[in-house]
Formats: sequence, structure tokens, C-alpha cells
Amino acid sequence: MSKRVVQEPLDGTLWLGRDGWTVCILDQTRLPHETVVRRLTSMEEVAEAIVTMQVRGAPLIGVSAAFGIALAMRRDASNGSLESAYVRLMSTRPTAVNLRWALDAMRAHLAPLAPADRASAAYAEAVRLRTADIATNRSIGEHGLKLIQDVLKRKKGKGPVQILTHCNAGRLGTLGWGTATAPMYFAHESGIPIHVWVSETRPRNQGAALTAWELGEKGIPLTVVVDNEAGHLLQRGLVDLVLVGADRVTSRGDAANKIGTYLKAVAAKAHRVPFYVAFPGTTIDWTLEDGVRDIPIEERSGREVTHVYGADAKGRPAEVRVTPPSAQARNDAFDVTPASWITGLITERGVCKATAAGMRKLYPESAPRKNAKAAVRKPRR
Ligand code: MRU
Repeated sequence: MSKRVVQEPLDGTLWLGRDGWTVCILDQTRLPHETVVRRLTSMEEVAEAIVTMQVRGAPLIGVSAAFGIALAMRRDASNGSLESAYVRLMSTRPTAVNLRWALDAMRAHLAPLAPADRASAAYAEAVRLRTADIATNRSIGEHGLKLIQDVLKRKKGKGPVQILTHCNAGRLGTLGWGTATAPMYFAHESGIPIHVWVSETRPRNQGAALTAWELGEKGIPLTVVVDNEAGHLLQRGLVDLVLVGADRVTSRGDAANKIGTYLKAVAAKAHRVPFYVAFPGTTIDWTLEDGVRDIPIEERSGREVTHVYGADAKGRPAEVRVTPPSAQARNDAFDVTPASWITGLITERGVCKATAAGMRKLYPESAPRKNAKAAVRKPRR
């Protein structure tokens, strides 16, 4: 089989405007019905774009926040402005740890500089983080591709390789090829026949709206299914591999991802289907060990459950209510899959077991020392 290497990342999710300082984003709340580009000119606009999920997905949230700091420094490069931008951006979404990672990196880079030098340094650093994420996606794609090739071998070359994914851990949630989707793009480009089951991902439908849109754009065969279909597909032997992303992974491999991921992992294990989580090193929270106890889970508005956004018969964006007006709704945006349910982790440094030892091997410089006590964290509630 000829291997075609994907040369360039796919289309952008965040880029600098021609003026060299405004931050342009593809508004993900409008996809797939409309392609709307927004120009963000202040830190507060970036914060709002993250809160409202115009930009979303752990790596993209982190890089967006970095550009938010750059915009803040352009307006006022004082210590107070740096600190208040850090605090405001950190408050936007609590689960994806890439946000903290990027903000810490920006603050550490800028704080020692003279205020007059901070704006240009902030832009340069934010651009560097953006570029690094593209390279990271590429490596994840290359490592994940091998897993897909192995599945094809196991199937004696009889494709397509059937992949189940959840939410959008795609190029829309990153700066390059995505995390869970990167191996899919690389496999498709290499001529490996794949078919992707895209789980709709209620309540915000990132699977049905975003993953279906971006994979479809590149000609990858896919079928959207309701979230509850995953068990049925796994039971019938219609899935060879589950590939999902993550918003925060602990030092022993517990992984927080979009609500509904955990159920898929349980069903996959019950049916002996490999379940892999793909993410960059920036998604690892080395201060946490027990993800179920300690990863903060974002609780979003119940309106996202009671109402559904889509397009009407004329293709116009529309929102409809699906519950009785009086119904209460709870909306935990993420769940945690304990490491024991995960077959393996795909990172930019390679594939490892979802164990502390596996992760330590890949990230020896960051992992807690073997006998060090795990950081003690208060339970969330
Ligand atoms: O709430 P979202 O849409 O930001 O959640 C996104 C996910 O759960 C993704 O799987 C994860 O961030 C990985 S994005 C490459």
C-alpha cells in the first residue's frame, strides 16, 4: 500500500488577521450550517468565545487563551493587566487543563520582561504554541496510524477499519489534524479504507455537527449514530477500534472527556474492542492521580439539554425545545474514564499503557517520582 504523507495541516481554526494583531476564529457554534469567521480584538472577546464555545476542544482552548493574553498585553502590558487577564481567561472553562498549561506558559514567559516588550513577546509565544500544536497533532497521527494499520492486518486486509469516535477531538478542536481524528486523516491519506461511526454527542452535538462536517469535508466515509447506539454496534462486532480525545488526563491515565465517553469505554471492554485515548502532553495534569475524585467537571446550562440547535427546512439556523417547559435539566459536560477501562494512550511521544509507569516512560521529565506521594486534592463536591 502506498503511503502518502499529509504535508500540511487542514484548514485553520484560529489565525492572525492581516493586520497582524486581531485574532480570527471559525465560530464553531454556527457549524455546520454556516461558516462564520469572527475577529476578536480584546482579551474579553477571547474569554467570551471560549465560554460560549465558539472555540472549543482542549488544545484550541489553550492556544486561544494564549492569544487572549497577547491581546491584553497589546492594550495594557502592566503586571496588573497580565494578572487579571490570566485570572479571567482561567475562569472560562474548568475541565480542559490545556487552558491552565497555556496560561502558565504565557505568564512565565512574560512576567520577567519589561512591560514595553511584553506585547510582541506575547504574540510570538502564542504563535509558537499554535505551531507546536500542529506538530503535536502530526505525531499523534503518525503513532495512531500504526494502530489502524495493525487492525487492518488483523482483519487480513479486509477493510474498512471500523472506528467509533465521540464528540469532536478533531481538527476543529486543535490547530492541525486533531487528536483522535489525526490517525483517521493519516490512514485515509495512506489509502487505508476506514469508516467512522460518529456518535452525535448530546447535548451540543459536537459529533453530529462538527466531526461529521470535518471528516465529510475530507471525504472520509462516516455514519452518524445516536449516542446510545454505541453498545449495540460494539455488541454486533461492527467496531474494530474506539478512538476518542481527552480534556485532562491524570498521572496514572484516568481520562476526562466529553460526557458519554465513559459508557463507551465500558461497553468496548465488555466486547473486547480496543479503546484508545489520543491527546497531547499538554492535556496531562501531573498534579492529579485519581481522576474520578479530582478532575473538575464543568457543569453547563440546562438549556443545552432542554433545547436543540440545528437548521430548519430552509437551512436557516433554528433552536427548538425538546422538553416540557417545566422540566429541570442537568448538564455535566464531561465524565472520567478510569485508566483500567482504557486499552492505551496515544500521545505525540508514542503509544503507552494507561498506567503511571506507561506515562512515566513517555514523559520522564514531568511524571511524579515513583515513590512520591500523589498530590492531595480536595474532592470537588
Ligand atoms: O466541550 P468541548 O466541545 O470543548 O469538549 C471537547 C472534547 O471533549 C474533546 O474530545 C477534547 O477536548 C479533545 S479536542 C482535540
